[in-house]
Amino acid sequence: MRTVLIILSACTLYAVLRYNIAKDVDWSHLPLFIGNKALSLAALGTLLFTFCIRPLHQLGMASITPLLDERKIIGMTGYLLVFLHLIISFLIFNPAYYQKFYTDSGKLTGAAELSMLCGVLAFAFIWGYSRRFQTFLRGDAQIITWLTSNKTLFAAILLVGGHLVFMGYKGWLTPEKWPWYLPPISLVGFVFVLATLAVNVVSHRKIQVNLNYASNTKVNLPS
Ligand code: HEM
Repeated sequence: MRTVLIILSACTLYAVLRYNIAKDVDWSHLPLFIGNKALSLAALGTLLFTFCIRPLHQLGMASITPLLDERKIIGMTGYLLVFLHLIISFLIFNPAYYQKFYTDSGKLTGAAELSMLCGVLAFAFIWGYSRRFQTFLRGDAQIITWLTSNKTLFAAILLVGGHLVFMGYKGWLTPEKWPWYLPPISLVGFVFVLATLAVNVVSHRKIQVNLNYASNTKVNLPS
């Protein structure tokens, strides 16, 4: 659990520094508005870290090996944090908090609708994938295999990426407007997504190369 506490503390410190201190958002909005920003980044960071533990171990990072046995609990805690992010987001989802998501008519902008759709689908895929950790799964084996496959995992990661891009891309392109030049949390989250995809692809490639080398070496062995 130390891992999750470190991620949660770092995300909370960053959210307070960027929004309450650098951007001067009133402290009365720390519990939910700023708290939700910290929580959403910690949820994302915890889940993505879970998906990097084994690839980093396979890439030879010895310091990560002790965490192999903790992946389940870290992953389920990340899932819980996402759930809390959802509840808080629904609690304060109105123009007073999120003017940037609304048009003058009071409806959501196209980008906000796409962002939230990606968020909802990402949550559904994360829910599906988290069934992987359930030992009493019953039902259609094919659906269970698909739900708990790496494909579902990658779909969830890409959908979270969409959730962040559609809500934050405008702010990402104006660094001169960032308070103390601290990047927006949605951009930090997106960098986490890219890093996770990179670690998994590199690790996967390395395994492929090793497998090819092993099979080639076997073929060439003198009888
Ligand atoms: C039903 C699904 C979801 C809803 C309704 C939702 C809602 C929101 C809202 C309203 C924001 C804007 C926060 C702000 O700008 O202060 C947001 C930001 C964010 N969400 Fe979600 N979200 C959902 C799913 C997810 C999932 C599955 C993840 C990750 C695993 C996630 C991670 C994030 C992150 C990292 C931010 C950026 C926070 C920021 O820019 O301050 N969200 N979400």
